[in-house]
Amino acid sequence: MSKYFVTTPIFYVNAKPHIGHVYSTIAADVLARFYRAKGANVLFSTGVDENSQKNVEAAKKDGKEVQAYVDEMAKVWEDTFSGLNLTYDTFVRTTSLEHAEAVKEMISRIEKNGDVYLGDYVGYYCVGCEEFIPEKDLVDGKCAIHKTEPKQIKEKNYFFKLSKYRDVLLKHYADQPDFVQPSSAKNKMLYYIENEMEDISISRQAQEWGIRLPNDPEHAVYVWFDALINYLTVTGFPKPEFTTFWPADLHIIGKDIIKFHCAIWPAMLIAAELPLPKRVFAHGFFTINGEKISKSLGNAIDPFELTKDYPFDAIRYYLLRDIPFGNDGDFSFERLKDRYNADLANGLGNLTSRSLNMIEKFWPDFNPEHMVKQLPEEVLHFFSQANTHIEQLEFDKALTQIWNGIAWADELVEKTKPWELAKAGKQEEIQQVLSQLFAVLKLVEVALLPLLPETHEKLKQILSATPLIKPTEPLFARKS
Ligand code: MSP
Repeated sequence: MSKYFVTTPIFYVNAKPHIGHVYSTIAADVLARFYRAKGANVLFSTGVDENSQKNVEAAKKDGKEVQAYVDEMAKVWEDTFSGLNLTYDTFVRTTSLEHAEAVKEMISRIEKNGDVYLGDYVGYYCVGCEEFIPEKDLVDGKCAIHKTEPKQIKEKNYFFKLSKYRDVLLKHYADQPDFVQPSSAKNKMLYYIENEMEDISISRQAQEWGIRLPNDPEHAVYVWFDALINYLTVTGFPKPEFTTFWPADLHIIGKDIIKFHCAIWPAMLIAAELPLPKRVFAHGFFTINGEKISKSLGNAIDPFELTKDYPFDAIRYYLLRDIPFGNDGDFSFERLKDRYNADLANGLGNLTSRSLNMIEKFWPDFNPEHMVKQLPEEVLHFFSQANTHIEQLEFDKALTQIWNGIAWADELVEKTKPWELAKAGKQEEIQQVLSQLFAVLKLVEVALLPLLPETHEKLKQILSATPLIKPTEPLFARKS
């Protein structure tokens, strides 16, 4: 049996999830469901990044012990993902013992390779980014993203010889042209690796919260160095069975964290003599009025709030269809409503109820098992293309193809007017049209399994009932 291992980033728990976080997890969920349906052994991992100073500050603000705070928030995140029916297999927490074991093992392998040294770090650190910031990247002395003044730091740090891996990384990029996608992310990384990549600090002196550095417990492991290793933790590393799933088939990440995933992480793996992930895909950012949605800017959209107004499938549909994966997009309630009404309520919803009405009226003893399905090649092609697009992470195109199938069926009704065929007593022709409509709905049902799983389930129940029963409620009720 083939395997498929897909990951999302692990999320800081200093606030509740917003729609941008759920985006990566929806994309991973589509792929996990897609490959499971193909019979693959799938590992879909997500989880939380708990050893961050951001979390320490949030706990302090809340008047809680850090461990109690991260325990509580990890549950909020996990409940959000499971409540939205996102089918992760593992929810990793970086305060877990298994993770500490994996981190220790990785660091000792990297040390053994001679790639860790003690040095002085003098510079700026933004807790919002959890990143050391070069002075040239500050805007008016502030972090360009968080608009806060970074901390000035002067301390002894352990460093990882990242710069040693410049040529090896460039060669990997040349040998595996699809390693980093989309090409905008790849080009940025090639520039960074060639021109800017330096050794990085991997420890913080006298920081109390965090995994201890094995050979010098005075130091905490730098949170990014620790967080990246979560992708190994979930495979069982360092137990030998970790090779069942490692290397990952795909890391899905946001475009702000490419440097960590496309340069630092592969270099860490090469240093530890482990195989590299097959693909890293960086999606864009959702903005609201052009501003990044973020916990720190206070303009976050809570996915649960949205589900009070729309079924979660409608939100999945809007996010996957409206914004090509990899591009930035402005989140708009207006667009969500328009898409919902036009494509779901009017498009798929109407086609389903119309087809079932006509079958009930014009072909009362219709039996799905005995219908003749003769669909033109063109229609079958829409659906096979939809699958290819999912494999290529072109979710918008996959949905467009499925909706091409729906549009074809709508046109068929308009063109053949089954009610007129009925008046003229052309029963054989009516049956031909209704079978084709039914066959398109079946194809839609199957194609929607990974993309809109709740709708898939509903359609499946409707279409597999014998005799066919017209549902009492519409698939999607129109919003005014
Ligand atoms: N903890 C790190 C990731 C470690 S992975 C080994 C982190 N966490 S985060 O909570 O700040 O962000 C997690 C993911 O959410 C990132 O991929 C980030 O790009 C994504 N998003 C955060 N805001 C977003 C939008 N407004 N839109 C789309 N995705 C965004 O970074």
